[in-house]
Amino acid sequence: MTKFYITTPLYYVNDKPHIGHAYTTILADVLARYHRIMGDEVYFLTGTDEHGQKVQEAAEKRNVKPKIHVDEYVIRFKDLWKRLHISYDDFIRTTETRHTCKVQKLLNELFERDEIYLDEYEGLYSVSEERFVTEKEVEEGNFRQIRKLKEKNYFFRMSKYQNKLIEHIENHPEFIKPKSRWNEVLSFLKKPLNDLCISRPKSRLSWGIEIPFDSDYVTYVWFDALLNYITAIDWDSDKDKFDKWWPADYHLMAKDILTTHAVYWPTMLMAANISLPKTIFSHGWWLMEESKMSKSLGNVINPIEIIDEYGVDSVRYYLMRDMVLGMDASFTKASFIKRYNADLANDYGNLVNRVTMLIKKYFDGKIPESGEYNETDLELIALAKTTPQTVRKLIEEMKIHDAIENTLTLIRKVNAYLELKSPWKSIKNDSSQCSNAATTLALSTDILRIGSQLLYPVMPEKVQSILDILGSSSIPLSDTSVGKLKAGAVLGNGKSPFPRILSK
Ligand code: MSP
Repeated sequence: MTKFYITTPLYYVNDKPHIGHAYTTILADVLARYHRIMGDEVYFLTGTDEHGQKVQEAAEKRNVKPKIHVDEYVIRFKDLWKRLHISYDDFIRTTETRHTCKVQKLLNELFERDEIYLDEYEGLYSVSEERFVTEKEVEEGNFRQIRKLKEKNYFFRMSKYQNKLIEHIENHPEFIKPKSRWNEVLSFLKKPLNDLCISRPKSRLSWGIEIPFDSDYVTYVWFDALLNYITAIDWDSDKDKFDKWWPADYHLMAKDILTTHAVYWPTMLMAANISLPKTIFSHGWWLMEESKMSKSLGNVINPIEIIDEYGVDSVRYYLMRDMVLGMDASFTKASFIKRYNADLANDYGNLVNRVTMLIKKYFDGKIPESGEYNETDLELIALAKTTPQTVRKLIEEMKIHDAIENTLTLIRKVNAYLELKSPWKSIKNDSSQCSNAATTLALSTDILRIGSQLLYPVMPEKVQSILDILGSSSIPLSDTSVGKLKAGAVLGNGKSPFPRILSK
């Protein structure tokens, strides 16, 4: 059995969860579900990043202790994940002891080995980003609340690992994906890398993990949060568990935090003598922020409203189908409705209704016995045999939109096949078992069942209801071979859960 360890970023607990957070988490969920069905043993990790200045300030504003604040706020993420059918195996919070004690353990180890040193540093500090920035970065204008600051801090010898990191990236094209991001990180590494300031004086910020060898300081949030990927799987306490899951197969994130993951994180691991993750995958942005969206254009939408209105699974489908991994995409209600009506209501939902209606009417709601297959039948069977393999390959390559499109092609092919064979006509002359109509309907339902199984990871709840309607819920999701839906299987009740959305 192959193991599959996949992670999302740890979201800032203070932030109100939005479509961006939902996207990465749904993506991880869909991949985790596909891999579970493929027979892999999966560890899907998500969680929240709970230390730092913003949390401290927000708690002060509310006049509560930071721990009480984060305990209340983490629920917003946990509730949303429940609502979105997120099947995580572990949810880690950076305030949990299983995490904090390991961060301190590693800090101690690195300090003893002189990978961390104390130094006085004078430089420009961005309060909003909670880190020292270079003059060039300030000029580029991406940082706010810049102050000149001179203070003693602890530094991690990140620069020491620059060449080793470049070498690793060059020798491992799969280490950073997609290729454009791989190039981007390598070109970033052409400039000399500084050492990383990993502490904050408590006089300025107290809400953090105390530096174990100097109680006047707390740990910089990134040095704390990144370590979750190994603390969650019990690094340094449960060797079997750690060795079983590490290295991670995928760290998922958007491009905003690529540098921290592709530069800070691997150098930290190198210093700790821990192997590097297999792939850091950085997807694009869902654009819907003020600059990209405008009220006057009427395209500002709250995804939660769409979920309330049209259901979670339809939104999962849209997000997975409409973003080409690595590229940006625009979330608009109009494109959502268009996609939903075309794929889910028309191609998929109508087919479910058409086939089941005819079987109920002419075959007592039971899958009929097939007769001999003709060339048209065999052509459909051939596509149904190759599609699961194609989908599997595309999922392994992280091409989810293509995997979905291939599945929809199979479903559309069943529609075309039905049109061609028109069982609603021939059935009037012959509605016996093994007739032309019986064969057509039995085969259509079976292949629709295969298409549904392939869509299950994307829309688990709705597809389950369709599998019930098709009388196929006892067939394991992993078994996509043709002919598994046997004659005599009884169809379930109900109609497609994807009614057409009528324009208002
Ligand atoms: N706390 C850090 C991560 C620490 S990981 C050890 C952080 N948190 S965050 O709450 O800002 O989450 C950023 C991530 O949320 C992005 O990398 C991406 O996964 C997701 N997204 C946030 N907005 C997004 C979009 N508009 N579009 C797509 N994904 C987005 O950074």
